[in-house]
Amino acid sequence: MAKKTIVITGASSGIGKATAIYFAQKGWNVAATMRNTDGISGFADYPSIVTFKLDVTNTESIKNAVGQMLQKFPDVDVLYNNAGYALAGAFEATTDEQVRKQFETNLFGAMNVTRAFLPHFRSKKKGIILNTTSSGGILTFPLYSIYNSTKWALEGFMEALQFELKPFNIRIKNIEPGTVKSEFTENISFVSNPDYDNYAKKVQHNTLASYKNAPTPDVVAKTAYKAATDNTFKLRYPATPQAKVAFFFRWLFPLRLFNKMAAAPVEKQIKTKDTAGIDSTI
Ligand SMILES: NC(=O)c1ccc[n+]([C@@H]2O[C@H](COP(=O)([O-])OP(=O)(O)OC[C@H]3O[C@@H](n4cnc5c(N)ncnc54)[C@H](OP(=O)(O)O)[C@@H]3O)[C@@H](O)[C@H]2O)c1
Repeated sequence: MAKKTIVITGASSGIGKATAIYFAQKGWNVAATMRNTDGISGFADYPSIVTFKLDVTNTESIKNAVGQMLQKFPDVDVLYNNAGYALAGAFEATTDEQVRKQFETNLFGAMNVTRAFLPHFRSKKKGIILNTTSSGGILTFPLYSIYNSTKWALEGFMEALQFELKPFNIRIKNIEPGTVKSEFTENISFVSNPDYDNYAKKVQHNTLASYKNAPTPDVVAKTAYKAATDNTFKLRYPATPQAKVAFFFRWLFPLRLFNKMAAAPVEKQIKTKDTAGIDSTI
C-alpha cells in the first residue's frame, strides 16, 4: 500500500514536532514545516520526515512551500494546521499590531494554508484537515482574551467550513489540547500595564504553575493520529485528560458557575477588590 503523507505547520517544536515523529513511526511521509529549518534536530532517525520552510503569516512563503511539498509528495492525505503561540496579559496593554500578529498566526495563517491545499484535496475528492485549536477555543481563561478569541474563531471557522467540504469528501478535525509541556509557555508574548499588575502578574504566575503536571506533546500526537485515521467526519477531539474533564464540567454546569470554578485555581490568593474596588467574580 502507498505511504500516506501528512503536512504539519509549526513542526519545529512541541506538538508539531511530536506529531511529525509519531506519524513517521507509523510509516507515514511527513512534510514538517517551520519558519527556520536551520539546525533543526530530532528528525535524523526518520528519513520519511522532510523539512520545508513555511511562515504561516506570509502568503509568498505558503505558496512556495506548498509548491515544493506537492512536488516532493504529489499525494498529500492530511494537512495539520498546528502553528501558533499565545499573546497574553491585560487586553488594554496590547497594541493593535500585537493583536493583528496573533490573529495572523493563529487564525489567518491556518485559513491561508488551508485555502492553498483545497484544490489538491478537491481534485483527489479526499482529504483531512486537522487543526490544533485548544481547550481555550471552547472555554476562556483570565488574561487570554486575545488568544482565546483566535482559537474560538478557528473553531467556528472550521465548524462552518466542514459543511461545504463534505461533498468533496474533505474532513475537518479540531484537536483540542489543555495544557501541554512544550515551548508554548516560553513563547508566550506577555504584555503588562502597571494598573493591572496586582491581578495579572499573580494570575499569570499561577497559570504557568499549572503547567507543572501537564502531559507531554505525544498525547496530542496520538489524538491527531486517531483523528487522521478513524475514517469519520467527527469534528472535535479533546486531546488531553484535562481538556476532557473541563469540557465535561462545562457541559454540566451553567456558564457563571463554570467560569467561577475555572478561574478559581489561577485567581487564588488574589483579592481583586484591592485592585478594582469591586468584586470581579463573573
Ligand atoms: N502547549 C499548550 O499548552 C497548548 C495548549 C492548547 C493549544 N496549544 C496550541 O498548540 C499549537 C502548538 O503549540 P506547542 O504547544 O507545540 O508550542 P510550541 O512548542 O511553541 O510550538 C509552536 C510552533 O508554532 C510555530 N510557529 C509560531 N509562529 C509561526 C509562524 N508564523 N509560522 C510558522 N510556524 C509558526 C513555532 O515555530 P518557531 O520555532 O518558528 O517559533 C513552533 O513550531 C499552537 O497552535 C498552540 O496554540 C498549545
